[in-house]
Amino acid sequence: MIHVAAVGDVHFGPDAAGTLRPHFEHLVDRADLLLLAGDLTRVGAPDEARALAEELDGVGVPVVAVLGNHDYHCDKADEVTRILEGVGVTVLEGDSVVVPVNGSTVGVAGTKGFGGGFVGACGSEFGEPEMKAFMAHSRCLADRLEQALAGLEADVKVALLHYAPCADTLLGERLEIYPFLGCYLLGEAVDRGGAVLTIHGHAHRGSERGLTAGGHHVRNVAQPVIGHAYRLFCLGADGAGADPECATPALTGA
Ligand SMILES: [Fe+2]
Ligand SMILES: [Fe+2]
Repeated sequence: MIHVAAVGDVHFGPDAAGTLRPHFEHLVDRADLLLLAGDLTRVGAPDEARALAEELDGVGVPVVAVLGNHDYHCDKADEVTRILEGVGVTVLEGDSVVVPVNGSTVGVAGTKGFGGGFVGACGSEFGEPEMKAFMAHSRCLADRLEQALAGLEADVKVALLHYAPCADTLLGERLEIYPFLGCYLLGEAVDRGGAVLTIHGHAHRGSERGLTAGGHHVRNVAQPVIGHAYRLFCLGADGAGADPECATPALTGA
């Protein structure tokens, strides 16, 4: 079995220093890799990224991340990425990484993704240039995710997103904001690319479990949703068994 730990929306900052680290102390005994599903910081400030990097430094398992919308706010996403990469975190955007685990391999393809909505209530590339640009951005990131997934040569494929690829995991959020929480194009990319498990965050008031239209497992690991330091998933080395979750260590003091 492959054990994947995942959490999103830690929204870290210097005043939270030391609060995550204790939960990662025994991670190496529980998980083969850690996925971070974006909104790693509050406003994408370098000092926030540095504070998180200190928590992650030497955590003992490969760490793979995507950025979230908050991580772009200060227009310093490249610097945030560099700071995290400085402690060994792999930050994905439209690309992938293969992690060897006990003689098999886990491939992670990642993108922040973007909004646009879901079937029956979605945007389209029509009308004003701003609307076309909005949906074109979403389509571009979804296309790159699909290509990254399709190109992965690994025993198990996982998609790592910030925005949601299905509406199921938004249940609990206001319907009016669904188009700003995710996009069906990401779900189509997952279905065509073939990820056994898709992890996302962003929807703090959403639900944990969902499926893409094609029946692929989706999990919202936004920290306010899971209420733990991270969620642990057990995947069969043959790509089967994204369900059920393993026992998850409790989050205390963070
Ligand atoms: Fe968030
Ligand atoms: Fe977000």
